[in-house]
Amino acid sequence: MADKIKIGVLISGGGSNLQAIIDACEAGSIDGNIVFAGADNKEAKGLERAKKKNIPTFVVDYPAIIKSYKSDPGNADLPADFDFNEIAARQSLFHGAAGSEKVKIFITTRVIAEAKLIETMNQWPFDLLVLAGFMRNLTPYFIDRLNHVSGKPRIMNIHPALLPSFPGVDGYGDTFRYGCKVGGCTVHFIDYGEDSGPIIGQRAFPIERNDTLDMVKEKGLIEEWILYPECIQMFAEGRLEVISAEGRNIVKIN
Ligand code: GRF
Repeated sequence: MADKIKIGVLISGGGSNLQAIIDACEAGSIDGNIVFAGADNKEAKGLERAKKKNIPTFVVDYPAIIKSYKSDPGNADLPADFDFNEIAARQSLFHGAAGSEKVKIFITTRVIAEAKLIETMNQWPFDLLVLAGFMRNLTPYFIDRLNHVSGKPRIMNIHPALLPSFPGVDGYGDTFRYGCKVGGCTVHFIDYGEDSGPIIGQRAFPIERNDTLDMVKEKGLIEEWILYPECIQMFAEGRLEVISAEGRNIVKIN
């Protein structure tokens, strides 16, 4: 058995993936323990699932941070080591409009929140950060403070579509509305773009003629609960390596 890894989890909603990871850790199919569960909003019901297991929880209130910045930008709680131009140049969430006011507000408010996330998470050392329905893009400010070893990223995300198709906030909805006959989910490492990082694993399911969007979401979640623990276990076993091939970063599974 591999040594147990320490896993941090971030969520935004109901936390059914968090539950699947808790269960897999308990069942021994992940050689790991969850050391914290955090959320970006106070309403995230999934935190209850962690509390029930005595896993430390916290909220970094993104909506409050964004609201407060917009009403009084001069008083913003900016981290001392934040250089807007440097982060704006490195991010790939926005193209061609990196100087606009909208992008300035986006990056600045996210970095304020991310600095608070990092400060809070630092209470519980962790090997892997798992985004489980965490509905916030992360900037290079955050990503670079977690990824220290080249080829060994340590932030994972699950996306409700077969990437690179249908990035964005509504993967199952976009898959369904496009008329796809197959849907799926993807676990990938986070990079500077939106749902664009190197793919670790995918699972697919058929979309039948009479399926509704709710049925597609249900089928997808069932696959997610299998896929995420499998990918986390590969990380725990030290089998995941990011290599550069033909100009792209891809995951090599050892
Ligand atoms: C999942 O479909 C996940 O792929 C997406 O958000 C949903 C989260 O569900 N990013 P839950 O909170 O884990 O139940």
